[in-house]
Amino acid sequence: MVGPATLAPYHEWEDQIPDEVKATIEEIKALIAEGEVEVCPADDPDWGVACFKPSAEAAEEMDGEALVNERCTVCHGLNEITANYGQDAAFWTEIVDEMIATGAQLDEEEREVVIDWLASQE
Ligand code: HEC
Repeated sequence: MVGPATLAPYHEWEDQIPDEVKATIEEIKALIAEGEVEVCPADDPDWGVACFKPSAEAAEEMDGEALVNERCTVCHGLNEITANYGQDAAFWTEIVDEMIATGAQLDEEEREVVIDWLASQE
């Protein structure tokens, strides 16, 4: 479990930090609080470079949307995919297997997650 660490307040920089940056920081803080992100000890030589890594547990929890955005847009746009939203799992199984045969990088588990997620889109 991660202790009650927190970040220093922004002080006079408050006005100069874009809201989206603040929102991202809040998200990261929440993840740290939940133990989803591993924070390196300050005396780690790689601190700040390699030490912001999602915990193994978080990595296991696969997100269909993230997988589609990452692995399914290598050869064509997302529009090719969104145009087919509303189709069922049988349709997507056929498509995803066809895409894997074409070269999409998905292992067995990721394939299942992606098919389920696509079939849940309307
Ligand atoms: C290695 C390249 C590649 C990747 C990665 C890829 N596709 Fe495709 N995709 C294609 C090609 C080429 C076509 C057009 C050929 C065709 O129409 O069969 C296509 C067409 C499609 C179509 C249109 C329907 C069809 O059969 O024409 C859909 C839907 C689709 N892809 C979904 C996906 C999904 C979902 C993923 C991620 C799992 C993905 N693609 C990843 C190459 C790729």
